[in-house]
Amino acid sequence: MSAQREHFSSRIGFILAAAGSAVGIGNLVGFPVNAAKNGGGAFLLIYAIFVFLVCLPVMMAEMAIGRKTEKEPVGAYKALGGGGMNWNIAGLLGVLTPFMIAVFYMVLTVWIFAYIAITLSGNLSYLASPASFGEIINSSYIFGAMIIVAAIVNFILAAGVKDGIEKAAKTLMPTLFIMLVVLVIFVLTRDNALAGVSFFLIPEFDKITPSVVNSALSQAFFSLSLGMGILITYGSYINRSTDIVNSAKLVAITDTAVAFTAGLMILPAVFSFNPQVNPQELSDSSVSLIFTFLPKIFLALQTSIGYFAASGVAAFFFILVFFAAITSLVSIIEVPVSYLVTEKGKTRKKALATLMMTGGLLALFATVSFGMVGFFTEFTSYAGGTRSFFDVIYDIFYDTILPLNGLLLCLFVSYRWKKHNLSEELATGREGYKGSFAEKYINFSLSTFIPVILLGIFLNTVAVKFFGINIFG
Ligand code: TRP
Repeated sequence: MSAQREHFSSRIGFILAAAGSAVGIGNLVGFPVNAAKNGGGAFLLIYAIFVFLVCLPVMMAEMAIGRKTEKEPVGAYKALGGGGMNWNIAGLLGVLTPFMIAVFYMVLTVWIFAYIAITLSGNLSYLASPASFGEIINSSYIFGAMIIVAAIVNFILAAGVKDGIEKAAKTLMPTLFIMLVVLVIFVLTRDNALAGVSFFLIPEFDKITPSVVNSALSQAFFSLSLGMGILITYGSYINRSTDIVNSAKLVAITDTAVAFTAGLMILPAVFSFNPQVNPQELSDSSVSLIFTFLPKIFLALQTSIGYFAASGVAAFFFILVFFAAITSLVSIIEVPVSYLVTEKGKTRKKALATLMMTGGLLALFATVSFGMVGFFTEFTSYAGGTRSFFDVIYDIFYDTILPLNGLLLCLFVSYRWKKHNLSEELATGREGYKGSFAEKYINFSLSTFIPVILLGIFLNTVAVKFFGINIFG
């Protein structure tokens, strides 16, 4: 296409948009609990090492491919891979994956939105009752919530890269940081809060098993938006004077900092509510934590601050999570939007309409797969259990394909596009990159141990998810 590609207006805009993509529901709830259960400070240490030594080079490679080609994954793999069939498949996976993840993430975001509405209407005690979650996600209001969330996302994306994505990130991300800090301060002044902090921070190295290491790495990889085509697409909107190495570092630091700070909110809240709690008993899933466990904590707050204020704190929390979710949702839908615009010559509006219809229909199927429609609820079965349509999308795309996409990307960059071209791209906008230690590390790691690690994660996930065997014990 001859039209000029739209660009982010500033480096900070790009960094906030990419960080907005990376910061999501998992950072705010999943990460803190995972850390507390799996060795506290020891987990944090391993996580940080993985972020910087394994994930960062992949992030830089994604951004570099995007900026070099000014394309989304399909176009990028085609442009640099010479049109070979195999690499085109990698490109297609790079667009199909975000499309499907968007479907499942849409469902979660809609639930969050419904929870905001319920807390604001003063029904906190209902929210904290055991049956409420199942009732809410199966009520007809959920469809109304879905229309509103779709409208918000559509509104942001229709405005384009600069006036939509970048502007939303520049407003929502700083707001999110402030809200998070306010909540941390509030929680830390509760009784018994410090017990939670120590569970989060004190390292227990004997809890670090191979399976914990594996989960820290997958968590880091997912959290940073890798393997989703997002950073290739966002990379295609940055200009050639931007320092990719430095930008990627800032994105990773922001994402990790938010996850870490969230730990100072969630765990003290849990312990203040129930000092006897054994973190081992907390659920592994962000979903059950957010939607069934935390509402109980908010309700318990009423004894100290009153029902009205407790509802306010709950609404504040769900709005915070909603902001985190919206910026992620926007980023992931931008990948197929960009594909339809760049590869299929559609206008942004047409592309969005197409996606709202196709993706919207799938999201509807996923929404009714929690009991409303039997066919989608008992969609299939594997590894000894029945799986809903929602579970299948989650298992295949969120859990399994991401490391595979990462693996393909490393191989592509190292052996097809070639390392010297990556170096060339990363050196653009960063003086002194050539010959630096960073260059040597990035080129070496991407072509050797990072793909091996990603292959290990991929194989293990397939074994666990679909055959019920854990290679890492
Ligand atoms: N960190 C996100 C989360 O915690 C995971 C994620 C990264 C994500 N990028 C995304 C989710 C894009 C959806 C869309 O949920």
